[in-house]
Amino acid sequence: MKSIAVYSSKGGVGKTAAAVNLSYVCSQRGKKTLLCDMDPQGAAGFYYRVRPKPNFNRKKFLKGNLQSFIRETDYPHLDLLPAHFSFRNLDLALDREGNGKLKHIFAGLADDYDYLILDCPPNMTLLSANLIMAADRVVTPVVPSTLSILALAQLVKFFDKIDADRKKLQAFFSMVECRKNMHGDTIKRFGKKKIFLRTQVPYLADVEKMGLTRQPVAVTRPDSVAAEAYDKLWMEVWKSLFRK
Ligand SMILES: Nc1ncnc2c1ncn2[C@@H]1O[C@H](COP(=O)(O)OP(=O)(O)O)[C@@H](O)[C@H]1O
Ligand SMILES: [Mg+2]
Repeated sequence: MKSIAVYSSKGGVGKTAAAVNLSYVCSQRGKKTLLCDMDPQGAAGFYYRVRPKPNFNRKKFLKGNLQSFIRETDYPHLDLLPAHFSFRNLDLALDREGNGKLKHIFAGLADDYDYLILDCPPNMTLLSANLIMAADRVVTPVVPSTLSILALAQLVKFFDKIDADRKKLQAFFSMVECRKNMHGDTIKRFGKKKIFLRTQVPYLADVEKMGLTRQPVAVTRPDSVAAEAYDKLWMEVWKSLFRK
C-alpha cells in the first residue's frame, strides 16, 4: 500500500478538493483506494456524503482496527474513513506516542488497499509530523503568493526538524488565477524548482461547485479542465512513487 498525504499548514488552499478528486481518479483506475479524513471538520466525508459510524471516535481510531469504521462510497474501489469531531484533540493523544504512531495504525490496512490518501488538517503539530512520517508522498497545494512560498520554506524546515525525507515532499500550484500578476510572477519565479510538480490546478468554478454537487468533478463534469487537472496531478504523483 502506498500512502499520499495532502497536507499544508495553511487552510483554504485546496487540500480537501485535491484529496477528494485524487482519491476518485485513483479508484477509477481500478486501484483499491481509501480516503482517510483526518480533519475534524469532516469536509472530505461531506463531499462523499459519508458520515462516521455512531460509535467511532478518536480513542477507537488510536486503537487501530480501522476496518470496522471504514465506509463505502457511491463509487467502486473507493472507501472512506470519515473524521470524527474528537479528532480535534488527536495532538494531545499523540503526545506520548512518538511520530510513528499513525504509520503503525495505517500499516494495519496494507492488505486491504493499494492506495491510502490522507486529507490532513491545517497546522504544523504532532499530528502533522505523524501524518508526514506515515506518508510515502506529501503533496502540498501552494496558492501562488509570497506568503505561501514562505509557508513552503517553513514546511521544508519542519521536514528537517522531524527527520522526514525531503524527497517525498511535492508541491503544486493550486487555485491559480492567470489574471493575477502575483500568481504569474510567483509561478515564473518558483515553478521550475524541483519541489514543484508540473501540474497546476487553476481556480475553477467546477471545483467550487463541489460544495453543492457533493461529487468529484470527474463525475459531474468528466470532460472539464478541472477533471483533467486532477487526473494529470494524480498521474504525476503516481509516476513519482515508482521512480527512485
Ligand atoms: N481549484 C479550485 N478552484 C476554485 N475553488 C477551489 C479550488 N480548490 C478549492 N476551492 C474552494 O476553496 C475552498 C477551500 O478549499 P479546500 O479544498 O476545502 O481547502 P483546504 O482543504 O486546504 O482547507 C472550498 O470552498 C473549495 O471549494
Ligand atoms: Mg480541508
